[in-house]
Amino acid sequence: MSTQTEKQVEIPLASGAGGGRRPDPCALVIFGASGDLTHRKLIPALYALEYRGLLPEKFAVVGVARTENSTESWREKMRAAVSEFGRDEMRDDVWNRLAAGMHYVSTDFASEGGESRVMELLEQLDKERGTRGNRVYYLAVPPEAIRTVVDKLGERRHSKGWVRAIVEKPFGHDLAGAKALNEDIVANFRENEIFRIDHYLGKETVQNVLAFRFANGIFEPIWNRRYVDNVQITVAESIGIENRADFYEQAGAIRDVVQNHMMQLLALVAMEPPADFEADAVRNEKVKVVRSIAPPDPGSVVRGQYGPGEVDGKKVPGYREEPGVAPDSNTETYMALKIFVDNWRWAGTPFYLRTGKRLSSRATTIVIIFRPAPHPPFLEIAGAGLRPNILVIDVQPDEGISLRIGAKVPGQGMTIQPVQLDFQYDQAFHVHLPEAYEKLILDAMLGDATLFTRIDEVEAQWSFVDSVVAQWEGSTPDFPNYPAGTRGPGSADALMARDQRLWCK
Ligand code: BG6
Repeated sequence: MSTQTEKQVEIPLASGAGGGRRPDPCALVIFGASGDLTHRKLIPALYALEYRGLLPEKFAVVGVARTENSTESWREKMRAAVSEFGRDEMRDDVWNRLAAGMHYVSTDFASEGGESRVMELLEQLDKERGTRGNRVYYLAVPPEAIRTVVDKLGERRHSKGWVRAIVEKPFGHDLAGAKALNEDIVANFRENEIFRIDHYLGKETVQNVLAFRFANGIFEPIWNRRYVDNVQITVAESIGIENRADFYEQAGAIRDVVQNHMMQLLALVAMEPPADFEADAVRNEKVKVVRSIAPPDPGSVVRGQYGPGEVDGKKVPGYREEPGVAPDSNTETYMALKIFVDNWRWAGTPFYLRTGKRLSSRATTIVIIFRPAPHPPFLEIAGAGLRPNILVIDVQPDEGISLRIGAKVPGQGMTIQPVQLDFQYDQAFHVHLPEAYEKLILDAMLGDATLFTRIDEVEAQWSFVDSVVAQWEGSTPDFPNYPAGTRGPGSADALMARDQRLWCK
């Protein structure tokens, strides 16, 4: 009989330094409140936190954007957004508690005195809702708009309460841009007040990479170049660019996903064990990995762009036909890379990375392919089933971990067949996994920066990206080179074939 409880249980969100504390009273100010991120992710995350009683007892949300709107109509829109994108059922009592503290201010921080109404409202909320001068500023605006906002926030800084600034990705456009942006921010906030967000670090399954590696004694001894043949990290999406042409034309896959989400996954897989789970210990180890990545040679980089095709049975346009995209755009919607982490643990072990939009399905996976057994005694008789062990970490969807082992087929002889040892989150814990933003917003309110990116890591990520982009200068890619709804360009398979390998998932 199973010893697990059959009903769905809640997992505590606050971990690390926060450890279950409820945050101090505060006001959360969202810049970019009329945008996609706010309605798809941020407000649904706040609702989920309110639903579980995890928000501060005294709390307010101020949405700020240039778009004209009233508080009433913003609240209504946000309620609809929670119904559409939230993970819990809409309950009037929960929503009303959250909405009572929600306000919208339409203003342009770039104009003279554009910040005044926000500042006045915050003072008023301190009195009415007891938010005590504590502020979390969520900067969900493009990098070029951040300077104006942080300068004004810096000028209006008062000594009452604490201040934290969450800065959304992309953090700059290249190394020089990231440094300049950081200078603007540090002129107004101290490093321990800055929370550079990469929502991948808020995913349960991504944090579980740390648990898997460092809470178990059996994997660490084999987690290195001697036992690992290669590592494959995939972030595949079936969605396209979703009305974000302006942003995506500038970013492409390398800046949108490789620079941040993929680098984070790679860092967690390859890092040394931190001494503890405090922010600096974890971040010190991650940055060492990113700094050790050697710039790939040109033959190890594949770029792709989708043409028209079919996804989930529906015809979809090619990238160049998407609204807002230049008809001759050379922006990449797919990338595959082979890289090396040049350090003692990983020298010579290739890490293959790939990401793309409009692929056949959505899947984020980390696959560790181990070297074959050195001398299986039944090599002659085992059959084709004698294959290397493969560990698959399914980050999403179908979150779990599985290990492929060779097992004896029952019956006469010693025929070996690959079978899976499986761990599935939903079966083991009976939980719905929280959304990454719930965890990260709560951590920022608690002042726990463990799952946020420190500037030295951001800079190391950009140095790597700049080295790849520099190789493209002056060359014209052969785009489009994969139909929407497929596995991506054939050249990504050729990259593996040259090394006598295959993508494993
Ligand atoms: C965002 C990118 O950071 O991550 C998007 O800008 C991408 O282009 C998204 O779709 C993927 O996130 P997730 O959580 O759906 O894997």
